[in-house]
Amino acid sequence: MKKKGHLIVANWKMNPATLSEARLLFGAARRETARLERVEAAVCPPFPYLAALRHTGRGRFFLGAQDVFWRNGGRFTGQVSPEMLRDLGVSHCIVGHSERRAQGEGDDTVAKKAEAALKEGLKAIVCVGEKSRDADGSFFAVLERQLLLSLEGIPRRHFLDLIIAYEPLWAIGKSAREAMSARDVRETEIFLRKALTDAFGAEAARLPRILYGGAVEEGNIAEILSEGGVQGLLVGHASLDALRFAKMLKAADEV
Ligand code: PGA
Repeated sequence: MKKKGHLIVANWKMNPATLSEARLLFGAARRETARLERVEAAVCPPFPYLAALRHTGRGRFFLGAQDVFWRNGGRFTGQVSPEMLRDLGVSHCIVGHSERRAQGEGDDTVAKKAEAALKEGLKAIVCVGEKSRDADGSFFAVLERQLLLSLEGIPRRHFLDLIIAYEPLWAIGKSAREAMSARDVRETEIFLRKALTDAFGAEAARLPRILYGGAVEEGNIAEILSEGGVQGLLVGHASLDALRFAKMLKAADEV
């Protein structure tokens, strides 16, 4: 059986500035993914571009969103519902990114958003990560607590569509030199999988993909995928350059 490819998620954040640039970037990523054999890519543009980039989500290339609200319809000014996203061909949705958590989004809200997205049939990419690491390892307890609270109430039947993105805050936005080492990524992946096993049982804990994010670039992508034990990556700044991102997809396809 052919091994399932890694999932590379592009988080464009509040970029690019125009729809025409977004179309170019999106088209380049789609074409590159189609040329490759196994890698899966989900590109997450800002909300206003989603309708124009509407996509069937078939094959190995997907349209994602960067956030979602936890209700369908109602008096919620400025929010975007899971059903609106699905109607636009969105299949993946990031929830609880640290940049949203920094604006006051708590674990309880993250859990509600993830559950709403999953119920709508979207794949929820739940982000977790410690602010800093201490030598005695007490950040592990912080991480475990954040993980479990962010998944609270999510039924195990949705776990196949659940994706955990581990993003240490101290690595986000940095260059590959300052990213986490593949060895530490591996250790953390094992820790997160064990935390899932303890909380939900071995059978359910096997289902979610675990991704790493934070300063992933062309220079470290192959090493993190081959030695980090993760099933994919969340890429921020390096996904905003069509050529760089194409190189990264190719590298991921070859691992
Ligand atoms: P980065 O961002 O790749 O620019 O570090 C990752 C993220 O914030 O998701």
